[in-house]
Amino acid sequence: MSHEVSNLLLVQFSEFVAAHMGLHFPAERWPDLRRGIRSAAPEFGYTDEVACVQRLMSAPLTRHQIEILAGNLTVGETYFFREKRAFEVLTERILPELIQSRRGGEQLLRLWSAACCTGEEAYSLAITLRRALPDLKEWQVTILATDVNSRFLQKAATGVFGEWSFRDAPAWLKEQYFRREEGNRYAILPEIRQMVQFEHLNLAEGSYPSLLTDTNAMDLIFCRNVLMYFAPTQSQRVVAQLHRCLVDGGWLALSATETAIASPQQFAAVNFDGAILYRKCERPQSPVVAPVPPVAWPVPVAEPQRVASPPLAPDVPDMIQSTRELANQGRLAEALALADKLVMAEKLNPVAQYLRAMIVMEQGALPEASKALQRAIYLDHDFVIAYFALGNLARNAGRMKEAGKHFKNVLNLLHRYQQDDILPESEGMSAGRLAEIIHSMREGAPVS
Ligand SMILES: C[S@@+](CC[C@H](N)C(=O)[O-])C[C@H]1O[C@@H](n2cnc3c(N)ncnc32)[C@H](O)[C@@H]1O
Repeated sequence: MSHEVSNLLLVQFSEFVAAHMGLHFPAERWPDLRRGIRSAAPEFGYTDEVACVQRLMSAPLTRHQIEILAGNLTVGETYFFREKRAFEVLTERILPELIQSRRGGEQLLRLWSAACCTGEEAYSLAITLRRALPDLKEWQVTILATDVNSRFLQKAATGVFGEWSFRDAPAWLKEQYFRREEGNRYAILPEIRQMVQFEHLNLAEGSYPSLLTDTNAMDLIFCRNVLMYFAPTQSQRVVAQLHRCLVDGGWLALSATETAIASPQQFAAVNFDGAILYRKCERPQSPVVAPVPPVAWPVPVAEPQRVASPPLAPDVPDMIQSTRELANQGRLAEALALADKLVMAEKLNPVAQYLRAMIVMEQGALPEASKALQRAIYLDHDFVIAYFALGNLARNAGRMKEAGKHFKNVLNLLHRYQQDDILPESEGMSAGRLAEIIHSMREGAPVS
């Protein structure tokens, strides 16, 4: 027999959900929370909702449990070119300036749809960028799309959509970028599909910004229609972390509703005649100005590390820190120059090799990154995150057997850690979380 969850238990569970997923359920949203529990309980194997809630709260949530909860507690409503004005501003103002400032240099552009749901927003960004950039092939473009709900991500990755996703889309969208399939379904063209990389990321966790989750040095982040479900303190924390993910002069877009309720203090709000976007810069400035001169980068929160390493000379930690900061800002050439110096000065330091690997990886020099990671592992056989990076490189290149070998090493090394231990050099990744990521990769999920 299923018992009704008492109000007291509901208070505790709503706090638990807020802490693990950011989602805010004040008393007026308790009916939604009760509905979510009712539909989630059978997925957790419970007929009794009280027992289910008590069991969930008895230990830290696993990624699988978070995914089930996300599927039942979050709203998966989205469509192409939602809030058109933001995309017009992108086309008319932001992208032209960004493209102009990068053309002839490294020609890098990095966009992120955080809380992408089933992918319509990320593909809208990809299409907008494609239309703005006739020589797209000459550019290194990253469009990262993340969500806490793996089912949404799996659907997004198929690139097939029904009519409802086009409810407010311009007429040219289907004609130019989709192929019609049976049953009024539309498949996005492969060249657009390939522009977007879908990954699992829980905004309530501290796994960003990070080179490891590729969430650093973003030029533009769309994080829309998700923070309105978060508790104010959680949403402020997310905004602060997103701020650190952006390059100086980078942009954050919230939805119109969120803009009305939150005014991120760290940003300059720029009003584009009907759409407000937030720009990362020290001083408020007029819309779309010439590139902002670099300012002091906020120092990332020191990451806790459990494994003792030999003490480093103070100038070495300084160099490591500066290299990381430059890389996080997307100043890759400068970061590499410093990493090279570090490697020369600290020939036996595995962290120096690892940092260098991450930088050259971001520059697209994958064989060089692989060599640097191997050197890091040669210097420290227990360097778990370096094995993981090496495994990812092999996996992305389709060398699945080699990837499997590296991931097996990771899992073996993880036995030495407690679930909640933060792994060295991982920028906040816990041992338990990494184990889950690897298990889900092995099960063939399209997300990491
Ligand atoms: C209403 S959709 C927004 C989709 C899209 N950004 C848009 O504006 O159309 C909200 C999305 O937020 C996701 N979400 C909820 N909590 C999250 C969290 N803690 N981390 C990441 N995504 C989350 C949900 O899974 C859902 O896909």
